[in-house]
Amino acid sequence: MTEADDLLPADPARRRGLGATAAWMMLASLGAGRAQAGRTGTTPALAFTPVPMTVEAPLAVPPGYTARVLYAWGDATGQAAVPPWRSDAVPTPAEQTLQAGMHHDGMAFFPLGGRGVLNGRHGLLALNHEYTDERLLHRDAASLAGGARTPEQVARSQAAHGVSVIEVQREGADAAWSVVRPSRRAWRVTANTPMAVAGPAAGHALLRTAADPEGRRILGTFANCAANATPWGSYLTCEENIQGYFEPPAELDASQRRWGLQAGGRGNWARWHLHDERFDLRRHPNEFHRFGWVVEIDPHDPTMTPVKRTALGRAVHEGAATGVSKDGRAVVFMGEDARFECIYRFVSRDRIRPGGFAANRDLLDHGTLSVARFDAQGRGRWLALTHGQGGLTPENGFADQGEVVIRTREASDRLGGTKMDRPEWTAISPVTGEVFVTLTNNAQRGKPGLPGADAANPRAPNPTGHILRWRHGGDLAAETFQWDIVALGGGETAGDAFSSPDGLTVDPFGRLWVATDAAPMLEAAPGERLWLPRNQLLVCDPVAPGGVNMRRFLVAPPGCEVTGPVITPDGRTLFLNIQHPDPGWPAPGGRPRSATVVVTKDDGGVIGG
Ligand code: FEO
Ligand code: CA
Ligand code: CA
Repeated sequence: MTEADDLLPADPARRRGLGATAAWMMLASLGAGRAQAGRTGTTPALAFTPVPMTVEAPLAVPPGYTARVLYAWGDATGQAAVPPWRSDAVPTPAEQTLQAGMHHDGMAFFPLGGRGVLNGRHGLLALNHEYTDERLLHRDAASLAGGARTPEQVARSQAAHGVSVIEVQREGADAAWSVVRPSRRAWRVTANTPMAVAGPAAGHALLRTAADPEGRRILGTFANCAANATPWGSYLTCEENIQGYFEPPAELDASQRRWGLQAGGRGNWARWHLHDERFDLRRHPNEFHRFGWVVEIDPHDPTMTPVKRTALGRAVHEGAATGVSKDGRAVVFMGEDARFECIYRFVSRDRIRPGGFAANRDLLDHGTLSVARFDAQGRGRWLALTHGQGGLTPENGFADQGEVVIRTREASDRLGGTKMDRPEWTAISPVTGEVFVTLTNNAQRGKPGLPGADAANPRAPNPTGHILRWRHGGDLAAETFQWDIVALGGGETAGDAFSSPDGLTVDPFGRLWVATDAAPMLEAAPGERLWLPRNQLLVCDPVAPGGVNMRRFLVAPPGCEVTGPVITPDGRTLFLNIQHPDPGWPAPGGRPRSATVVVTKDDGGVIGG
């Protein structure tokens, strides 16, 4: 038995030789069942020397660890030959569809091969390409003056969005990770990939357009922020800031204002409408309703049609952390990253079945969507967003369940969901069943006319954010929960200071990894400044007997945010994404490139010790 095996939580599924899906389900169920138990005794101590914030290296990890760039914007996926990326050239749109897109974000690892669920040496890595830096992408900044775009620029931009699925392997004398090329498993999803629509909004009048009179076929996904793997082996990629891609009408209606469209098109940075009319809401107003969804992808099947799962609601979606209820149903937790927006949960009607995506292709289309209400004294309740209940009726503007999910924000307003400080990633502990969320910051809380502090959002303003968790008494599908605050940004929690927590994952041992997305020198409190010039990745034991103690594991290149942290099931590899670094990274002197980075321990041990 190896060191890693010694540390892993008890896994009867592995010993019984169950398939990956069954084993994941069992791990998740074990976690849910332990929710009340707290510490299980399996969480190893963190044993690394924290990285000082003053370090000079462009990307710094603790002594004894190595970080390498694995997959940067413009690198070939491996599905077909393409010219190598060049700092002094731009890819054609066709080439860009065969390369890594821009602005890597959420990510998940899908083990392949003989060791099944616990394999940490070979797998698929699915990752989001959230948005583009148009000046970097096209190189010709002058051509963009006044918001102009050529047809080729729009096509290149759309091709640089979406999702990559790549095959990665750890082999050789130094056990280094590499992208497998060529690979029949590699593929790309872009802003033009045909997608199906399922759930209560499929075919809805508000989704029908001239190009899609049935409202059941949508081209593409974009603004894909956080992402998660499901227990049945699919990838959930979440459409976030969709409002930046549409040219709105001259006069906005109340719903369009509620959803962040800006009069005069000031927020339309992408400018796709100039050469792709579906992004011109003056001509196709319903196109806006066709984005803001969670999209399900079977990463193992490059021929599959991604599906927009409308039962999970429409929002500025961050993640979709998925676990298993006590009776075997899927439970999905989702944040909406905007000031004073809410946290959501979806519980499937049916149980998860063995057999991977094929056996669960309709699972996320039937169930109950709820919004969280965080009450005082650490109590909370899920409020069902169900048509006909709680005032979600035709008299109040909700014609049917399709309209409830299309206008999730308005429905949550009516039910009284708690307005949070920008909920970013959610994560479920496989050890304790606790659910975590990063509340990245909210400098507007407490301003005149806006909500003030409340129990779950206790600081007004809140410039440095906090991390909150809740427990469901052993069943992720329970209607009530108990919550508490895990850590406060701005140096108010023991250990290394952080600000603006964003990316989040819980490793196989129950340790919480937190990636930050803060502006440098963010103001910590009136008259004070917190010296955090670069973003970072931290880790803590959230159930440590002495309380949470944050430890800085990685300092990231200047200008970037850290996102997408993923730990392989064997605990020995950390993948993460570096998004929008300053010039000089990863190659000195070259155009900056967002990239997937892989971190391993030099002695082959578990990340974090
Ligand atoms: Fe794309 Fe909320 O971060
Ligand atoms: Ca984010
Ligand atoms: Ca963020």
